[in-house]
Amino acid sequence: MPSNRALRFLGLTSVCFCIIIIVSVTLYGTDAFPQTVILWTPKFSKPSGPEVIGLEDNPDATGSGIHTHPLDQLLAEAKDSLEQNLRTQAFTLQEAATQYRRRRGRYPPPGFDAWYHFASSTGAVIVEKFWDQIYHDLEPFREVAPSTLRQQAAAFHVGISIREGKVSAKGNNTAGKTSIWMHMLQTLAQQEHVQMPDIDILLNVNDEPSLIVPWDDIETAMSYARKLKLPPQDVLRVFPEYKDGLPFNYTFQPEWLGPRLTHPASIMGPRPYWELVRSACPPGSPARVAPKFIDIWHPKGHTSEAHQAINMFPLSTPKDTIQGYIKNWTTATDPCNFPHLQGLHGAFVRPEAMSACVKLFPQFGAGKMGVNNDILLPGTGEWKSTNHNPHEMEGETIAWEQRQNKLFWRGPDTGGHSTKINWQRMHRHRFVSMLNGSQVALAEKTFASGNKTLEGQSPARNFRLPISNPYRLATQGKGRLGKWVKTWADVAFTEISCDVWSTSKLCPYNAAYFGSLLAPTSIEEQRQYKYAAIIDGNGGDDGGNFTQVLNNGIVALRATVFRNWYDSRLWPWVHFVPMDNTFMDVYGIMQYFIGTDHDGHDAEARRIAESARDWSRRVLRKEDMLIYTYRLLLEYARMMHDERERLGWVEDLLAENGK
Ligand SMILES: *[C@@H]1O[C@H](CO)[C@@H](O)[C@H](O)[C@H]1NC(C)=O
Ligand SMILES: *[C@@H]1O[C@H](CO)[C@@H](O)[C@H](O)[C@H]1NC(C)=O
Ligand SMILES: *[C@@H]1O[C@H](CO)[C@@H](O)[C@H](O)[C@H]1NC(C)=O
Ligand SMILES: *[C@@H]1O[C@H](CO)[C@@H](O)[C@H](O)[C@H]1NC(C)=O
Ligand SMILES: *[C@@H]1O[C@H](CO)[C@@H](O)[C@H](O)[C@H]1NC(C)=O
Ligand SMILES: *[C@@H]1O[C@H](CO)[C@@H](O)[C@H](O)[C@H]1NC(C)=O
Repeated sequence: MPSNRALRFLGLTSVCFCIIIIVSVTLYGTDAFPQTVILWTPKFSKPSGPEVIGLEDNPDATGSGIHTHPLDQLLAEAKDSLEQNLRTQAFTLQEAATQYRRRRGRYPPPGFDAWYHFASSTGAVIVEKFWDQIYHDLEPFREVAPSTLRQQAAAFHVGISIREGKVSAKGNNTAGKTSIWMHMLQTLAQQEHVQMPDIDILLNVNDEPSLIVPWDDIETAMSYARKLKLPPQDVLRVFPEYKDGLPFNYTFQPEWLGPRLTHPASIMGPRPYWELVRSACPPGSPARVAPKFIDIWHPKGHTSEAHQAINMFPLSTPKDTIQGYIKNWTTATDPCNFPHLQGLHGAFVRPEAMSACVKLFPQFGAGKMGVNNDILLPGTGEWKSTNHNPHEMEGETIAWEQRQNKLFWRGPDTGGHSTKINWQRMHRHRFVSMLNGSQVALAEKTFASGNKTLEGQSPARNFRLPISNPYRLATQGKGRLGKWVKTWADVAFTEISCDVWSTSKLCPYNAAYFGSLLAPTSIEEQRQYKYAAIIDGNGGDDGGNFTQVLNNGIVALRATVFRNWYDSRLWPWVHFVPMDNTFMDVYGIMQYFIGTDHDGHDAEARRIAESARDWSRRVLRKEDMLIYTYRLLLEYARMMHDERERLGWVEDLLAENGK
């Protein structure tokens, strides 16, 4: 029987993979535990006087009683931030236009009124920040001549054309995800108020993003992105006729870089993907400063001791956190800040698809990292699940008290192409190990060994418990951490792939650690639990799993290096629980929520679950995907016109002037 891995190989198509990611060890402090005493008055945790006691005085930092815990602070701050943003909500077209001009420094695009009427007719929450990702994605393209963008979009063979409201696939090629995106756009075109601009859209139908343009080039591009506001009367208020201007016999082929491991020496050098990530990160960022660990990609696994997975695992809490807990989601998900991820995350260690492109062209896709330049659309899996089961979970959630007080996760070992020599670096393997009480107990045992090298090492050598106990785990060091983890973790692989011949479903080189494969799960099963983990798969399009978990009122613990269309409308610590990509904070998080001895914060967890459910039903609806897409298309259409700097919607200003 050929291994799963071999089958997976055969299934691989050539893929454009242009992403840049950077990780830096330097963001992890040497101070395992900051000395700061945080003065903060709990807002919605415990009653009575604000007697503030620093964690220094409170070694059992479970947040019980009146002691403050960093999560009390983070939860309160996040709630404030959400409330502050909601104050900018627009309830009229005029307000929406004002918010637009304030946040974007430009006029809204032509058709903005139709967009607003469509959005408001669905009852959408209209907060300009929700569309930030669109501007992040499109801004660099202002450097490229509109005629070039039009030709590239028209000539590429995979994509969608919109003309006079009619949506069709290029050359009738609806393979892969194209047909689902077609369906999404056709649905949009049929909505009341909607007037689709004429446009060509070039699609990335692969799982992984593909554009990863060097930082310097993007900076240059951004310098062209001037914010011009002409006098309103000089503004061109309707889109001129769209002409792709395709010269006879014009073809467009992006300049893909070759397969990663066989790429000949070039200016990039014999390349690991990390090389591309680094150059897409800002100068001076940890990823740029930290060296590239070439031996990580040695074909035979000849890795130095220092660069083994176990030794790259940080022993102190990440910087720019509050005592190790994430306070800024943008920073925490940006690989430029975490050079150790080059050896500890599958997307960098060995992505499945191995081609990349370092030159801008207008390509749309479903998931990307901050360093990628793909233009994000709502994911196809998400569209499919929301569209087919629009009310799937409504009224169906299981009462909080009846659920298991556990963290649940099931999934295959995707997220990178794992092999005999690299599986210890894979984030999914690490997660499953770290949530396996037996392995945690074995790691804990090493503290008693008297051998400093071994201290805290997991038996699989894929994670490490810092002896300094930076998260102040009440059970660590007493031989109770593993046991405690077993009481609340329900985490297992459903499938393991193998790059050697195997007669079982397991892999000979790691079967000792992942011996219990369990059946794939469904959302119905996940609903029986209070907590679910959301861990990166391939390429950032999780098929809608994250939004489904939110929609089902489950507390999502989420770690990722990717971005999605909804990121600007979700608040970490309000709607979900953010985790570091090493997962080193997972025990501290669970200690806060579940506790070690009836001292958890179940009410806070429940509040997150309920906020997630209610919020997702307001801002992650099928309609919200359409509203996002419609806004994106209008901006994109403006970008594609020669007169892009003159085009705008200024009706409200003209009416005012006319008064
Ligand atoms: C696409 O399919 C439609 C309907 O089947 C057909 O009328 C049209 O000619 C086809 N277009 C191309 C470019 O093949
Ligand atoms: C168009 O391109 C094809 C393929 O590159 C070439 O064979 C053909 O001669 C070209 N036609 C003209 C008229 O240039
Ligand atoms: C998070 O960090 C980013 C990048 O450093 C910064 O621009 C942003 O303002 C920060 N967000 C918050 C809420 O502090
Ligand atoms: C500690 O353990 C490591 C790994 O097994 C071994 O190489 C080393 O010799 C041990 N050191 C001592 C002092 O026993
Ligand atoms: C947990 O780890 C042990 C080895 O310590 C292994 O036998 C078991 O199969 C693992 N469980 C899961 C669910 O992977
Ligand atoms: C999404 O969930 C399904 C069902 O639980 C699972 O099979 C799949 O692997 C998940 N996808 C990702 C990317 O996590």
